[in-house]
Amino acid sequence: MPTDETDPEISRRTMLSSGAKKAIGLTVLAGAVAGLAACAMDMPTRPEVTSGVVNIGPAADYPAGTVDSQYVKKYGVCISNDGGTITAISPVCTHRGCLTHWNPNKNEFICPCHGSRYDIEGLVVHGPATHPLHRVPTLRSADGTLSVNLTALNSQPYPFQKHRE
Ligand code: FES
Repeated sequence: MPTDETDPEISRRTMLSSGAKKAIGLTVLAGAVAGLAACAMDMPTRPEVTSGVVNIGPAADYPAGTVDSQYVKKYGVCISNDGGTITAISPVCTHRGCLTHWNPNKNEFICPCHGSRYDIEGLVVHGPATHPLHRVPTLRSADGTLSVNLTALNSQPYPFQKHRE
């Protein structure tokens, strides 16, 4: 009776099985690496300024119904004007901390990691997030200039931290 190594049919099956396992393993590994890379790209970087009160210019620069993302890198905020109420909103998703992106066509902040969506006020439209985006009202001076209290914004507890422990 031939052994596994001398029976050509058994050897071929063994090789195919081994090759298939390696291919599946490599596919799973490639998927995991791609997933990690995608998550890493969506994780927010620390803003240049995270505390104090910062000037963001005249209120007229933020028309009603718009979200301005020019200060995400510098201050970690988007400036939202929801019908005249101008708010500074952190785009960091409260589910697990990925960076949401404002989509003007859908009028929503959309998280690329697990699909949470938030409206122009930062309120949850679709989970898995259950907490609104962190936000603070802007402060308006007599000349119409707006400022944002980053200390107040960033002192809010981050709900997603409980998932990272
Ligand atoms: S981190 Fe945004 S939905 Fe999970």
